[in-house]
Amino acid sequence: MNTGRTLNTIPSFFSVVVAVPLFFIVFGCMSAVSNDAAAVEKKSCVTSKCHANMGKEKYVHGPASVGQCTICHVLTAEHAFKPIENVGKLCNQCHDKEFTGKVNHDPVLKGQCTGCHDSHQSPYEFMLLGEGENLCFICHDKKIIAGEFIHGPVAVGGCSVCHQPHSSDYPKLLLDVGNAACYSCHFAKEESFKEKKHMHSPVEEACILCHSPHSGNYEYNFAADGSQDLCLGCHDDIQEIVEDSKNKHGGLETERKCLGCHDAHVSDYPKQLLKEPLNLCISCHDREYGSGKTRVANMKPILDENKVHHGPIKQNDCSACHSPHGSNNFRILREYFPPVFYAPYDANNYKLCFMCHEQTIAQEKFTTTLTGFRNGKQNLHYVHVNLKVKGRTCRACHDAHATNNPKHIRDGVPFGAWNLPINFEKTAAGGQCLPGCHQLFKYDREKEVFNR
Ligand code: HEC
Ligand code: HEC
Ligand code: HEC
Ligand code: HEC
Ligand code: HEC
Ligand code: HEC
Ligand code: HEC
Ligand code: HEC
Ligand code: HEC
Ligand code: HEC
Ligand code: HEC
Ligand code: HEC
Ligand code: HEC
Repeated sequence: MNTGRTLNTIPSFFSVVVAVPLFFIVFGCMSAVSNDAAAVEKKSCVTSKCHANMGKEKYVHGPASVGQCTICHVLTAEHAFKPIENVGKLCNQCHDKEFTGKVNHDPVLKGQCTGCHDSHQSPYEFMLLGEGENLCFICHDKKIIAGEFIHGPVAVGGCSVCHQPHSSDYPKLLLDVGNAACYSCHFAKEESFKEKKHMHSPVEEACILCHSPHSGNYEYNFAADGSQDLCLGCHDDIQEIVEDSKNKHGGLETERKCLGCHDAHVSDYPKQLLKEPLNLCISCHDREYGSGKTRVANMKPILDENKVHHGPIKQNDCSACHSPHGSNNFRILREYFPPVFYAPYDANNYKLCFMCHEQTIAQEKFTTTLTGFRNGKQNLHYVHVNLKVKGRTCRACHDAHATNNPKHIRDGVPFGAWNLPINFEKTAAGGQCLPGCHQLFKYDREKEVFNR
């Protein structure tokens, strides 16, 4: 861990270049006066009775240590001197400290050097009025460190590992700008972030959008719980889904909440996902959840054992149909899809499929173009689906995920307690079915078949 600076460099430079000549000035004055030792004793303000403590602390200011009170105080009478009007100006008569940073600390700007330094002496180095954070808390509210979780360096009292006391080139008197102020210690994080393809936009902007540099009431110095509430504070669209969906995805309710699927900082996958999208879903859906009516099937064997994967699944995109946070539809589907075998025909019932497929496939009684599921010109999608009562829903024949039959025709479809078989075979210009619904029927797009 690099603390970023050493306190010694500036003062020691100061000592040589500035203090040595200063010492001669001060000492010179004193030695001139000390020619008349009795006069000094008479004139010095420090006697066994008066200001007896002066010079007794560990750190004594150069001029005060040699009893040169009048170098700063103008006596008006015995025990009376003119108030010092401009302390900053006085200090700089000898220190000539130039604060050239773009940002100057308010008391420094106002010449209130004695807001932090004692002019005479102090138990603390640089004659400071307090040690470490205590100095700062003379003026600043302690509430910045009142959070339950305190940032490492702050916990050990180190305000100065991040802030300059007088002046800085960066906002908030920081030693560095933006995230660089964090990376100076968290350099391992900077390295690991660089290895990933995408960075969450607020991380790029400023770590402190989420992490307080000082303290917070939640782990990692957050102002809200980092696994969800912190996220929802910025993502109000997701908050709406989480609050308002009839059907919230169980995946949001695991212990890690949002972080069960997203990385807060960086990712190799779009949308800050922890894994490649399909693998992410399967990382949980490689088991069965619930039972009976609340059963959620194990998707892993379904995808492993059925080789013909539906287009969006081939593209690894489960979210093409499922809204990963929740929705008002059955099975967190993005659009309506009937959860039943029969439904009266209404194109809106199949909005899910018609997001990508033409809804005309089931609209014309006769066609030679709209669908391949036809016998001659007779549209068999129309025949099955487009009925006022007991229209067969798409699920009666198709599986949305994967099958071993072409055209995503399922082997069987749940019909009450029965897995109704379909027995589909495809031919060059058509196909045939022997389902639990009727006897063997064939269709041929070129040579219409007359099933009896
Ligand atoms: C380097 C300049 C400097 C020297 C030298 C100095 N003083 Fe001061 N002193 C100050 C300043 C500045 C203040 C006013 C502090 C304030 O108002 O912020 C002060 C304030 C005081 C006060 C008012 C009470 C207090 O402590 O604030 C007394 C008493 C005092 N000085 C005594 C002395 C005596 C005695 C000496 C010599 C041993 C001495 N000073 C030397 C700068 C100096
Ligand atoms: C008359 C000249 C003089 C004045 C006025 C003066 N100082 Fe000093 N100051 C010195 C000398 C000499 C030293 C000792 C230098 C050293 O030890 O390196 C010193 C040391 C310091 C130090 C410690 C520096 C270190 O590196 O340890 C601080 C802090 C300081 N002064 C602050 C002030 C402040 C604040 C004021 C105004 C209230 C002030 N000085 C006014 C002469 C002065
Ligand atoms: C907000 C508190 C604060 C104020 C106000 C302040 N200082 Fe300091 N000063 C410090 C601290 C803390 C140090 C310790 C060294 C460091 O961190 O740079 C210091 C160190 C010093 C030093 C010795 C080291 C150096 O940087 O040369 C001098 C001299 C000094 N201050 C002079 C002044 C003068 C002159 C003023 C008024 C114009 C002033 N300070 C106002 C906090 C303050
Ligand atoms: C003598 C009073 C005083 C002391 C002691 C003091 N400050 Fe300040 N500080 C102020 C004032 C006044 C402001 C300006 C008003 C504000 O932002 O609260 C300020 C502002 C700041 C700011 C914001 C600067 C900006 O650009 O917005 C930071 C950071 C800061 N102080 C840090 C510190 C640290 C660190 C210490 C301890 C080394 C410290 N202060 C000690 C009075 C003080
Ligand atoms: C790890 C680095 C770090 C440490 C250590 C640190 N700060 Fe800060 N501080 C910051 C950053 C970064 C900001 C800017 C926050 C912002 O802009 O919201 C800041 C802002 C501030 C501000 C200005 C607050 C405001 O709202 O403008 C004050 C005052 C302050 N710090 C005081 C302190 C004090 C006192 C300590 C020691 C107890 C301390 N800091 C320790 C990094 C740090
Ligand atoms: C001076 C060095 C330093 C700087 C600068 C610094 N940190 Fe830290 N940070 C630490 C230390 C030390 C810890 C405690 C490490 C630990 O407990 O394992 C820590 C812990 C953390 C933690 C919690 C890590 C954990 O595993 O509990 C977070 C989050 C953090 N820092 C964020 C930041 C941010 C954001 C910034 C910039 C505003 C920053 N840090 C700047 C030194 C620093
Ligand atoms: C969008 C909010 C957000 C931003 C911005 C952010 N973080 Fe975090 N950070 C988090 C969350 C959430 C965690 C907890 C991660 C976890 O539990 O897996 C965390 C954890 C950490 C940790 C401790 C755990 C770990 O992964 O080592 C460190 C250190 C850290 N962040 C540093 C940073 C730094 C440095 C930045 C800026 C470059 C930053 N963070 C920006 C949200 C954020
Ligand atoms: C400080 C506000 C803020 C916080 C807190 C925040 N985000 Fe973001 N997030 C953003 C912004 C801004 C974007 C980019 C906006 C956009 O592209 O629409 C973004 C984008 C995202 C994206 C989409 C990324 C992409 O590649 O399109 C995801 C996913 C995300 N955030 C998840 C989270 C999670 C999870 C958390 C909690 C750990 C979180 N966010 C916390 C502001 C935030
Ligand atoms: C079960 C996994 C999972 C969980 C848990 C999860 N997300 Fe997502 N999130 C995703 C997926 C997958 C996407 C990408 C959707 C897409 O590609 O259209 C996404 C996309 C996002 C986006 C980008 C905008 C969008 O709608 O595409 C944001 C923002 C987001 N999530 C925030 C959150 C927040 C906040 C939480 C916690 C309340 C959270 N996510 C929990 C899987 C999850
Ligand atoms: C972190 C684990 C986790 C991840 C990752 C995950 N899920 Fe889930 N999923 C669950 C849990 C838990 C349930 C609820 C099971 C229950 O009802 O008991 C669930 C339920 C479901 C359901 C049934 C919803 C209902 O209302 O019946 C679907 C569909 C689903 N998830 C799809 C997905 C998709 C698509 C992805 C990838 C974007 C995904 N899941 C990623 C844990 C996860
Ligand atoms: C083309 C749209 C579509 C895609 C893409 C899709 N699903 Fe589904 N998913 C559905 C439909 C429709 C249902 C409801 C099926 C039913 O009940 O017959 C469903 C149901 C589910 C269920 C509940 C299964 C059950 O019956 O218990 C899970 C879990 C699920 N999907 C996960 C996934 C995962 C994981 C992916 C990506 C590998 C994925 N889905 C991709 C449309 C889709
Ligand atoms: C997100 C877009 C999308 C959604 C939603 C969608 N599909 Fe598909 N579907 C595709 C893609 C892409 C293909 C592959 C087309 C190709 O290979 O030419 C495909 C292929 C098919 C095929 C095979 C077509 C062929 O010629 O091989 C059938 C059957 C099918 N989908 C039925 C459905 C059903 C039923 C639904 C509703 C449950 C549905 N699809 C929802 C995108 C989607
Ligand atoms: C009675 C069974 C059955 C029903 C119900 C059914 N389909 Fe089909 N569908 C098929 C068959 C069989 C094919 C294969 C036609 C061929 O190419 O031989 C097919 C083909 C398709 C195709 C590929 C393009 C085409 O039209 O040839 C899509 C897309 C499709 N169906 C979507 C749907 C949608 C959406 C629904 C619900 C609205 C649905 N199907 C209902 C049996 C059915």
